[in-house]
Amino acid sequence: MKKRFVIGNWKMYIASPSEAKKFALTLTRRARLFRGLEVWVAPPFTLLSLLQPTLKNTSVRLGAQTVSAHKAGAHTGDVSATMLKQTGASFVLVGHSDRRALGETDALIHEELLQTIQAGLTAVLCIGEREHDHNGSYFEVISSQLSSALSDFPRSATRKLMIAYEPVWAIGKTAQDAMNPGELQEMQIFIRKILVDILGRESARGVPVLYGGSIEPQNAHLLMQEGGVSGFLVGHASAEIESFIEILSACKK
Ligand code: PGA
Repeated sequence: MKKRFVIGNWKMYIASPSEAKKFALTLTRRARLFRGLEVWVAPPFTLLSLLQPTLKNTSVRLGAQTVSAHKAGAHTGDVSATMLKQTGASFVLVGHSDRRALGETDALIHEELLQTIQAGLTAVLCIGEREHDHNGSYFEVISSQLSSALSDFPRSATRKLMIAYEPVWAIGKTAQDAMNPGELQEMQIFIRKILVDILGRESARGVPVLYGGSIEPQNAHLLMQEGGVSGFLVGHASAEIESFIEILSACKK
């Protein structure tokens, strides 16, 4: 049976060490109820080392929200993939739209992806159009973001690759503003087709495609049942333990 994933992107919502620890402890205790569901969390850099002992030997995986495009050297403020690995992170969100909005280009995201893979971490490549225009040019945007990020991607590393489709117009709003299952189904089929074109049928087959953009307890179940995706990347609703647990519960088989 195919795995399902729910990744919490804490952004800067949870900042205090004590709050983060309390959240992680509760989550590990309650996530045990959701067998067959992969539960991952991506806190800010400052909380990674702190949460590592709490999450070690549990089913909840720890990851980072971004990564440097460089291996080492004079890059003030950057954190390399190897450094992230040392904190206990096992995955990275690469190319999130919050980062693209700050000026991260497709070329930079390509480098970040390679750094992530070379360090042996799983890359969750985030893609998404800014606008959902009526003539469908957003398909072109998605295709070009994928082709650019995945050019020269080593096929042997596809088991460390995931795609998170997050249309920017649906992020940070409410369940009513998220995609509907029909639109999502259509988009995930398109993404899968592009992945096959880039990576080949065999390598593309196992790459999970997730959805993000105003996933809340109210829409998680229907989008999971009818959207055709392998799970969710959840922002604001992942920073509150009860709503995150409700989303996990909506995604279990
Ligand atoms: P949201 O954020 O769930 O708050 O819309 C999703 C994301 O940006 O990853």
